[in-house]
Amino acid sequence: MISEPIRIDFSTGELTGEGVEEVCRTLGQLEGVFRDAEAWGAMSPAQLVYRVQLYRPVQKGVAGGLFWGTTFVEPGLVGDEYFMTKGHVHVPRDRSEYYVTTGGEGALILMDERRQTRVELMRPGSLHYIPSGHAHRVANTGPGVLSFLACWPSDTENDYESVLEHGFSARLRRVDGSPLLVEEP
Ligand SMILES: [Fe+2]
Repeated sequence: MISEPIRIDFSTGELTGEGVEEVCRTLGQLEGVFRDAEAWGAMSPAQLVYRVQLYRPVQKGVAGGLFWGTTFVEPGLVGDEYFMTKGHVHVPRDRSEYYVTTGGEGALILMDERRQTRVELMRPGSLHYIPSGHAHRVANTGPGVLSFLACWPSDTENDYESVLEHGFSARLRRVDGSPLLVEEP
């Protein structure tokens, strides 16, 4: 038997093939994520912020497997904060992940277990290793869609709640037209 493989369009990151799933996140689904709640409330809840394509060849929770995905983050701002993903940390904590940027301009925001936050610039072709125990989110700082590929272990749960509750120690904000990592008060 010859089966058709999943395909990746490397110019866009778009995945095609049997079994590719898709999840969308709108502004309305991202309550509490952005610092400026007033600016968030004045925007359309239906506004798409990001879309994730997933390829999961094994059941979620199975040890020893790998998942693949592409995330597409729309350009935009909520107040002075760039459109970004919700952010999560892996459970169990000793699970790491790779990102590869396929299009656009952005930043990977990483916070270690001592709550030290740093940023890696994302440009087409940039490879990012997310070490275990690091909270991570991606912000789109460019004028177009930011897309990146990801690969992570299939027995990883994404803990969004603790990130939403405690936040990152710094946020990527547009200051004088450029991205700046600003410590939270
Ligand atoms: Fe992750």
